[in-house]
Amino acid sequence: MSMTSGPPTPQDGEVGVAVIGAGYWGPNLVRNFLNCDRTWLWAVCDLDEQRARTVVGKRSSIEVTSRFEDLLADDRIEAVAIATPAATHLPLALAAIEAGKHILVEKPLALSAADARTIAEAAERAGLVAMCDHTFCYTPAVNRIRDEIAAGHLGRIQYVDSVRINLGLVQRDTDVFWDLLPHDLSILDSVLPAGTGPVAVSALGVDPIGAGKPCVGYVSLLLPDDAIAHVHVSWLSPVKIRNVVIGGSLRHLVWNDTDPTQRISTYERGVDIAEIEDEDEQRQLMFQYRTGDMHAPALTDAEALQSLVRDFATCIREGGTPRTDSWQGVRVLEVLEAVDRSRAADGVLVPVR
Ligand SMILES: NC(=O)c1ccc[n+]([C@@H]2O[C@H](COP(=O)([O-])OP(=O)(O)OC[C@H]3O[C@@H](n4cnc5c(N)ncnc54)[C@H](O)[C@@H]3O)[C@@H](O)[C@H]2O)c1
Repeated sequence: MSMTSGPPTPQDGEVGVAVIGAGYWGPNLVRNFLNCDRTWLWAVCDLDEQRARTVVGKRSSIEVTSRFEDLLADDRIEAVAIATPAATHLPLALAAIEAGKHILVEKPLALSAADARTIAEAAERAGLVAMCDHTFCYTPAVNRIRDEIAAGHLGRIQYVDSVRINLGLVQRDTDVFWDLLPHDLSILDSVLPAGTGPVAVSALGVDPIGAGKPCVGYVSLLLPDDAIAHVHVSWLSPVKIRNVVIGGSLRHLVWNDTDPTQRISTYERGVDIAEIEDEDEQRQLMFQYRTGDMHAPALTDAEALQSLVRDFATCIREGGTPRTDSWQGVRVLEVLEAVDRSRAADGVLVPVR
């Protein structure tokens, strides 16, 4: 048996990275950085050092620490991924930027749109890549939806209907809107043409189990050009439903994320209106129902988080803006804040700032 000498070292061009936060989500980042041929994972940091050690495994040469400052002082580490609770994102992200590190921050980017903007502006000033982990935006399904809309296959988007419900973990530091809605808001931000995001919001939430926070919520989002989106989020559903219907003037698209054999379907069915003149030369509206094929495109099985860390590393090396950059994180928070304002006013329609 031949033995290799010395620990493995990064290949040319690989971006040196570290992960902070080794709780529920951090290990997914660790695994994807390890599997990515453009990144080299140097260290994992958690206040609970044992947790970080468990994530890297006892035979690993990846360093573990409980001190974030250790990562900041390490010149081999060019970028840090922050997977700690949302309340810590602002100070950790600013310290990382101050130390000249590119950042990948878990959603939500911060606790407020103003804080998120502070992060985005600081990174921009320092010329660093700042990304927010809106993982869904990198799924093959969302890639396909984005392509279908961009190619004009759906026509003008008229409405979006999303249901994101399951028996979820009732979380201590967040409500169902802040937990689940960022997924739908970032997906909308990613697939709708630039400048056609929500302009006003009406939201209602209830807490039927006495958790002290909304566990079931309904959010209506007005889009420009008389379009609308609606999102139903819940932690209390006994079944898991991840369904999105996108109605376009030419086609409909249905995304059922719990059906791996047919996640996306496009339908040529729909209704058109034509104006005709009757025998008295009066103008009449005529409704014409279109029938047509349903098409279910084959999608790849690529892991979204792998595509996301690749985009992060590519933007660091080659320049460019990641698909889910920190400004998307800001826009998502602006809508979440409008949701909070509307909820506090019993669902009144409030503008998105
Ligand atoms: N992208 C997604 O789909 C997705 C999914 C789940 C969670 N998240 C996000 O990931 C983030 C973390 O969530 P989680 O569920 O993994 O939380 P968690 O509580 O399970 O883990 C957080 C970890 O961070 C550590 N930590 C806290 N402060 C620290 C500090 N200052 N320095 C070092 N370590 C510190 C804690 O010890 C803990 O191990 C949240 O922002 C959450 O919204 C994203």
